Amino acid sequence: MSGKIDFDANAAKAVEAMYLTPDVVGQRVTVLDALGLAPYEHVLDIGSGPGLLAEDAAKMVGAEGRVLGVDVSDAMVTMARTRCAALPQAEFANCDATKLEAADGSFDAAVSTQVYEYVDDVDKALKELHRVLKPRGRAVILDTDWDSIVWHASDAGLMRQVLACWDDHLADPHLPATLARRLKRADFHVSRVEIVPMLSVGFQPHSYAAGIMRGIRSFVRGNAEKHGLSEEDIQRWYDDQLRLAELGAFFFSVNRYMFVATK
Ligand SMILES: C[S@@+](CC[C@H](N)C(=O)[O-])C[C@H]1O[C@@H](n2cnc3c(N)ncnc32)[C@H](O)[C@@H]1O
Repeated sequence: MSGKIDFDANAAKAVEAMYLTPDVVGQRVTVLDALGLAPYEHVLDIGSGPGLLAEDAAKMVGAEGRVLGVDVSDAMVTMARTRCAALPQAEFANCDATKLEAADGSFDAAVSTQVYEYVDDVDKALKELHRVLKPRGRAVILDTDWDSIVWHASDAGLMRQVLACWDDHLADPHLPATLARRLKRADFHVSRVEIVPMLSVGFQPHSYAAGIMRGIRSFVRGNAEKHGLSEEDIQRWYDDQLRLAELGAFFFSVNRYMFVATK
């Protein structure tokens, strides 16, 4: 595979495992807290993935509320439907963020975490988000800026090459830097921007850092040539991280940026 990630059944399982780690569970708590859902509300989760956030949101809005999760990946939609099978207020559909199949003004709130960075035309997606929200509707958006990464390695040059290749997995690996301006251009009022860090000082096997290490190794393997990387380079990069982990010298940090906006 080349280019962006294909969220097939295997990728869906890998994302699910990574998003069940305490790091990402904590991120969901922060996002849902900012969204401030109440019973009866109608909520849209754009790029709902494994359905973990939609499940929590469905419990918050209750049986009289509604959560619609949309995603372009059939594997993700299937996983989310299975996860939320006991919550009839949660529905899922295959739909693109730039062409939402929803009426104007139909949601009290919308959320999109780690999705717009994959979207080629973010401005179109934000227009769609604005269209489907009710007047004064709230939106919470969270994306990573991969320029914020601090990741210790024995060979800093090799780390830079690997991360340059990893940048190719997204349409925009630095979206947060322009998102506030784009939201304003789409007629949103941005009330809050916050950093949500992913930080591992020392290696924990059940962590976002451990999951993303495996994800990067797999993606870079399929896209290495363009960046002058060989299979041996990638293995050397991965083994170095395992060695640093054994020495107690593992350090990983990257920032996600959360934007709270209203229509
Ligand atoms: C990293 S996952 C995040 C999943 C979920 N939002 C979460 O935080 O748990 C990214 C998801 O965005 C979806 N996605 C990517 N491009 C999309 C688009 N244009 N429209 C809708 N979903 C999209 C992918 O299929 C994938 O499920």
